[in-house]
Amino acid sequence: MIYDTQILSDNDDNIIKAAKTLNDGEIVGIPTETVYGLAADATNEEAVKKIFIAKGRPQDNPLIIHIADISDIEKYAYDIPPLAYKMAEEFWPGPLTMVLPKKDIIPLTTSGGLDTVGIRFPSHKTAQKIIKACGVALAAPSANLSGKPSPTSAMHVFDDMKGKIPAIVDGGRCSVGVESTVVSFENDTVRILRPGYISEEDIKKITENVITDKGVLNKITDSEIIRSPGMKYKHYSPKANVIILEGSIEKFCDYVNEHYAEKTYGMIFDKDKEKCSFPYLTYGNTSEEHASLIFDRLREFDKIGAQTVYVHSPEKNGVGLAVYNRLLRAAGFEVIIL
Ligand code: TXA
Ligand code: MG
Repeated sequence: MIYDTQILSDNDDNIIKAAKTLNDGEIVGIPTETVYGLAADATNEEAVKKIFIAKGRPQDNPLIIHIADISDIEKYAYDIPPLAYKMAEEFWPGPLTMVLPKKDIIPLTTSGGLDTVGIRFPSHKTAQKIIKACGVALAAPSANLSGKPSPTSAMHVFDDMKGKIPAIVDGGRCSVGVESTVVSFENDTVRILRPGYISEEDIKKITENVITDKGVLNKITDSEIIRSPGMKYKHYSPKANVIILEGSIEKFCDYVNEHYAEKTYGMIFDKDKEKCSFPYLTYGNTSEEHASLIFDRLREFDKIGAQTVYVHSPEKNGVGLAVYNRLLRAAGFEVIIL
């Protein structure tokens, strides 16, 4: 089926309209504070299947579900450790997804065949209103085509999903810009499966027992345990060959000048503009700014037909680690230390 995809402003009438479409088993693009999601009723297998088709997503890559009240966690998960409640009180609503044992109400189609489900309570008011109006959790992966950079505006969703979905609710630009932090629990330990705005340092305020999974910064080999299916897929890859360069801006410029070829670009900090004589895009100065701009810039490189993109590495602490993790995947783990 080919849809005449509508971009709806997020007024109350359109929120009701979007909720009705979702309750009818259709899928809708919705804003969240991290990235736009491609939403469906998480309990409706047929609806959820449409998400996998629209994205071209492998069926074993589980979807996370979105709720709009902490107590709803018990509708969809069981054996919830006390630590999970502590985390929820501290970080929800917000960019944190917790992987917990799933109840049967969540079909295996949603969980990619796993007996666990990732749950998140987003802070975006429009997302909350849509979930509440639906009266059921919404499964929503990022609303990009599988393998493309995540969408941080309604236009990005339109670029990828035009004709494939009936509607996108426009809630403005996403404030965080990178996807949520995904964690699982092992006894008293929190394991970070995907870094996000909520950092290891933030979680340490709740518990000292936090580990960042090896898959966050390393390519997982076939013989290793894959704790989150998302780790094994190539992600966020623009058409260009992305290479991360670590070192001073002076060394960065020297390297790019030496290796300059047609359709080569740099991605640099705003403050370093004057130092570069080759074409570039900037991605802010702070890690927060990098997070909010990174996917927009990776999409922009596609539009301008970049063939090679040298990225000046962000810091690797706080949300900077999330930015670095996305860039590593965009670069297929190609990093050059200068
Ligand atoms: O911020 C976000 O999390 C956005 C917005 C829309 O909420 N959603 C999002 O969903 O990024 P998605 O599907 O693009 O990424 C979810 C990641 C995937 O890498 C998936 O493999 C992992 O979380 N994941 C989901 N459920 C899991 C589970 N039960 N166990 C382990 N990993 C899981
Ligand atoms: Mg995604």
